[in-house]
Amino acid sequence: MKNIYILAIDTSCDDTSVSLLKNDCVLSSIVSSQLDVHKEWGGVVPNLARREHEKMIDGCVKTAFKRSGLSSMKKLSAVAVTYGPGLAPALQVGVTKAKQIAEEFSLPIIAVNHMEGHTLSTFLKNKSGKNYSGMTKAKFPFMTICVSGGHTEIIWVEKLGSYKLLGQTVDDAAGEAFDKVARMLDLGYPGGPIISKLAETGDPKKFVLPRPMKDTHDYNFSFSGLKTACLYNTNDLRKSLGKKFAKIIPDYCASFQEAVVDSLLIKVNKAIKKLNPKMIVLGGGVSANNRLRSKFRKNCKELGIPVFFPEKKFCTDNASMIAVAAYYKFLRGEFVKHTDTFQRDPSITIETIRDESAL
Ligand code: KG4
Ligand code: ZN
Repeated sequence: MKNIYILAIDTSCDDTSVSLLKNDCVLSSIVSSQLDVHKEWGGVVPNLARREHEKMIDGCVKTAFKRSGLSSMKKLSAVAVTYGPGLAPALQVGVTKAKQIAEEFSLPIIAVNHMEGHTLSTFLKNKSGKNYSGMTKAKFPFMTICVSGGHTEIIWVEKLGSYKLLGQTVDDAAGEAFDKVARMLDLGYPGGPIISKLAETGDPKKFVLPRPMKDTHDYNFSFSGLKTACLYNTNDLRKSLGKKFAKIIPDYCASFQEAVVDSLLIKVNKAIKKLNPKMIVLGGGVSANNRLRSKFRKNCKELGIPVFFPEKKFCTDNASMIAVAAYYKFLRGEFVKHTDTFQRDPSITIETIRDESAL
């Protein structure tokens, strides 16, 4: 079969990402981080994100193309772009660029849901065709746990292109909780990598923190309650310990991280027992967390179910995961029908994907 070359763009949040794939193999993957811009605000500022995407997008497209080794943009089979969910002004930049490229090189556009990208990031292969996550053959139906700064979702994948949202956070996302607790502890942004590093030398049992919603008969999560518990708790500890507060930070980080991972595992296990998926797949920034990985591995080994994690660089936002989702959409013939009216759609869910071909 003829090779399929897809250039994909993701500008859904604060990373300008462009990637070029040959079928499901990554030829190049560029991520330009805006961390320094948003750091001082303690979170992502949408209009600053748009401005930075506009500055970076052309350079990212050029570099991704150059590093791919493809001889001409005319060799592309399609251009793919994240059209939602995400920040409207940020998404707009990617969609506009994709339309421009499509017009210039007479290419079809593939509209990708950002969450489908995270769901399939374990499907990516390197240039030599080796799967990064060690998955040799996907087994269906499977279950993906997407844990990022904006989402915490359990997604049921009946087959590629057919997704059901089993459960999600009712308030904050898991990554958001990491970021907020890091801010409470004056550790910096983004909180996930900092907390997980400090937690390495901490005792996860030192502080007793809640596992919110652990007994509810659904697959939903809540991380806002945990965050609030941490707020009261750290305020009390600061008062009672004074300068010695700094010493307990690694233990606090480890205990908080444990509460997040346990909360995820409780609901994931509930879903595994009820629905019997053939494999478990992780995705999103928080799936880079080492403690999460080791606890999920142990848990799934005990249950006799395979578990796969994305390569670390594909956990956080990137355009390669968008390109791999687009590759399967290409095979299914799902292209944007009306490119002139095609627009970003910031609030779509994973279940909206089925309607995309009507775009
Ligand atoms: O997937 P992502 O890049 O962005 C969204 O789509 O939201 O995820 C970013 C989130 C941030 O909240 C960050 O703190 C968290 O992922 N994160 C981590 C780790 N690395 C990134 N959380 C826990 N442990 C990590 N190692
Ligand atoms: Zn994301």
